Amino acid sequence: MNILGINAYHGDASAALFVDGALVAAVEEERFTRIKHDTSFPHRSIRYCLDQAGLQAGDLDHFALSRNPRANLGRRLKHAVLDRSGRRVATRRAANLKKILAAKRTLAEGLGVDERHLRAKAHFVEHHLAHIASSYYVSPFERAAVLSIDGFGDMISAMWGVGEGGRLRMLGEVAFPHSLGVYYTAVTQYLGFPKYGDEYKVMGLASYGEPAYLDQFRQIVHSSGLGYDLNLEAFRHHVEGAAMTWDGGSPELPPLWGPGMEELLGPARAGSDVPLEARHQNIAASLQRRLEEVVLQMLRELHATTGVGAVCMAGGVALNCVVNGKILDETPFRDLYIQPAAYDGGTSLGAAAYVQHHQLGTPRSFVMEHAYWGPDFDAHQIQAALDSAGIRYQQLPTEKMLQQTADALADGEIVGWYQGRAEFGPRALGNRSILTDPRRAEMKDILNTRIKHREVFRPFAPVILEERTGDYFDKTYPSPFMLLTYNVLPTKRDEIPAPTHVDGTGRLQTVRRDQNALYYDLVSAFADRTQVPVLLNTSFNENEPICCTPEEAIDTFLKTRMDRLVMGDFVATRLEQSG
Ligand SMILES: [Fe+2]
Repeated sequence: MNILGINAYHGDASAALFVDGALVAAVEEERFTRIKHDTSFPHRSIRYCLDQAGLQAGDLDHFALSRNPRANLGRRLKHAVLDRSGRRVATRRAANLKKILAAKRTLAEGLGVDERHLRAKAHFVEHHLAHIASSYYVSPFERAAVLSIDGFGDMISAMWGVGEGGRLRMLGEVAFPHSLGVYYTAVTQYLGFPKYGDEYKVMGLASYGEPAYLDQFRQIVHSSGLGYDLNLEAFRHHVEGAAMTWDGGSPELPPLWGPGMEELLGPARAGSDVPLEARHQNIAASLQRRLEEVVLQMLRELHATTGVGAVCMAGGVALNCVVNGKILDETPFRDLYIQPAAYDGGTSLGAAAYVQHHQLGTPRSFVMEHAYWGPDFDAHQIQAALDSAGIRYQQLPTEKMLQQTADALADGEIVGWYQGRAEFGPRALGNRSILTDPRRAEMKDILNTRIKHREVFRPFAPVILEERTGDYFDKTYPSPFMLLTYNVLPTKRDEIPAPTHVDGTGRLQTVRRDQNALYYDLVSAFADRTQVPVLLNTSFNENEPICCTPEEAIDTFLKTRMDRLVMGDFVATRLEQSG
């Protein structure tokens, strides 16, 4: 049974493929097209998934889109009629609807086959069901509460319920115009960060401030049991729309905040060149704190409603690792699962899983223990790429390569680490990573200014051997996908200053050998040399999608000031290139 899931015409277009109940491949289109958050039809991702499984288009039994244009039709029509920009929005939606319904034809065209030879049955899975399915069905839990929160998808911003065995039962939702995702994005824009996906920057900025505006934020978003309401005066999406637009592939959102936001918080930051002041940091801190209050309250209610001890989360808001890191402390839930592509990119995985289990009744047999579902390149391809770029390199036995890399890290080198299959989701988790020594405080500035060319306030993440987590953090629950922020133990903050954020926290990744043997062995080798079982890990890119091919990794190595590039067992150093 071959089931393909697709997220198309939406941020972070992607594809995922299940074969006989197990995930075989999953990847975002941006990795191929090099357009951040690419919104097109994911032709190249689909082609990759089929190749990885050795399948032809005609072998597909089902394909599932993570949108249902027919869902919430009444709400869509009402919005189209009442909305000041209703006609424009309605026209665009109609065009979108046509495209989505024509997905089978588009798929056939992209794969170069006649539509009649594509026997796969098409399914349209509502956006939040796809989010929820992307988490629950690949989690290790037989029973779990489920919660999805994002901007909007199919007119809904949050949905919750219970998963039991192969079935999902939804218990409630929050509909347009109320949205926690819109809330966070609107204030992100107000703070002078206009780009799609900039919420991460504000989450990093929040740690520098105090929640001095919490009272105002409690007037901007009201908690109500399992849901929430926005104070609409502070927003404008309810009159002007919040629909994503795209030209050339990258999505854009219109301004979402309204005059009421400035009445409550003062003048907006006019642009990204205006210096950040303490007031902006305090607003970011208050925004974040209010989000935590509302989400944790929802989770407590969800626990009370369902009485289940485990929770699975998804949706863009589930990438907020600061909230996630508080769930096990501040709610009665004892177990938590979030898959690495919790954002819209993961809905391809969810749509396929939903069809597989909820609709077709296939028993669950697969647990997503790691994130490595993307393209890989063999030694021959890596060597060819190095040769054609004129790079000087050595090929070492794996043991020696590991030892030498650990030594180079301990000596202060910045290492580009390119291994195996690319990660699914927005985080690099040890296969497309830049690694450094966490003990060197200066690494944070060096990486931000010399390598990544990004804002100085943005933090870096630690990776730690899973069994050593309690030696450095105040909690030990595993965080394999770098989606939980814990406090670094006060006694350890001076030991690993580079990935310790200004507020004493770390957005950690825990690693076990069965998840990624080479990565685990590298951290172990570094620990043998330094007694510190931690590395600093950041994504292998410079203001672009994370590198996918060996050529892209080499390109990033050459244009940034990394000291060393390790690809498979091939090692190239900066020094050798100039020598
Ligand atoms: Fe979403």
